Amino acid sequence: MSIPKDFNDRMLSLGLARVAEQAAIASAKLVGHGDEKAADQAAVNAMRDQLNKLDIKGVVVIGEGERDEAPMLYIGEEVGTGNGPGVDIALDPLEGTTLTAKDMPNALTVIAMGPRGSMLHAPDVYMEKLAIGPGFPEDVVTLDMTPTERVEALAKVKGCKPSDITCCILERPRHEEMIAEVRATGAAIRLITDGDVAGVMHCAESHLTGIDMYMGSGGAPEGVLASAALKCMGGQMYGKLLFRNDDEKARAAKAGITDLDKIYKRDEMVTADVIFAATGVTNGSILSGIKREPGWITTETILMRSKTGSVRRVIYRNPFE
Ligand code: FBP
Repeated sequence: MSIPKDFNDRMLSLGLARVAEQAAIASAKLVGHGDEKAADQAAVNAMRDQLNKLDIKGVVVIGEGERDEAPMLYIGEEVGTGNGPGVDIALDPLEGTTLTAKDMPNALTVIAMGPRGSMLHAPDVYMEKLAIGPGFPEDVVTLDMTPTERVEALAKVKGCKPSDITCCILERPRHEEMIAEVRATGAAIRLITDGDVAGVMHCAESHLTGIDMYMGSGGAPEGVLASAALKCMGGQMYGKLLFRNDDEKARAAKAGITDLDKIYKRDEMVTADVIFAATGVTNGSILSGIKREPGWITTETILMRSKTGSVRRVIYRNPFE
């Protein structure tokens, strides 16, 4: 299918930042209050309201879930004023609901927009992920390699020792073997409890974050969002869908996926130029979280366009009651 490339991305990018900002502001009052659901709902409502103000004919392709399980921002929901370009939207109104509820680092609001047909319609299943930042030869690490081979290959091209490499991995029982194997190479691991979109983005700014490589399984929708981020920031990403039962396979079939064993590269998950915005909800190593002072609220948003490779950090300070 040929994809129309132009969707007025330059003009729409500031609007996208507003969408991410308002979702973060809405969840701010719930940071540290132990209520994941309420924090998520606040972000969803605000993100939907803001999206409906944009002059787009938008369709949510990565969203809160199937229509029967998510009343808002469900997959297939049409958003925007209906005037303007047809676009596909991938979003996670609150990436890291538990991080927000517990006031732990790196909770983000995340949204990406591209022309119709530009993003993999990933079903809500797990995805095996691998990511590194920009500046390395293509396929220097791949999903086919063992964790040891990945660490050694990356150390070799970086001209350093495996013990100089730091990997980021979600702390889950399913990753115990991977964690032990990476540790046996001498490499360090930053374990995160949630938030693998941020985990992958950390690789693109390793000079700031200290993370060289991301690996392990997490949500497939988050994998597409992370690919959109890396398409803007630079870096390589691979993803393979993981299915635990026939229902999950049926979800993939419904999304139009026929090859269940395919390893997707970044540009197969995001096939055209996109814009991407993420706002920090809690403080993290790539974005500051929301700051509340008497009468004021301040957010930090990363706003990027893959067409130009531009990366803006937008500080928004607004009177707030
Ligand atoms: P939520 O914001 O929906 O809680 O997701 C957080 C997250 O950590 C994602 O970043 C990650 O992809 C996924 O959950 C991992 O899933 P699981 O908790 O089942 O291992």
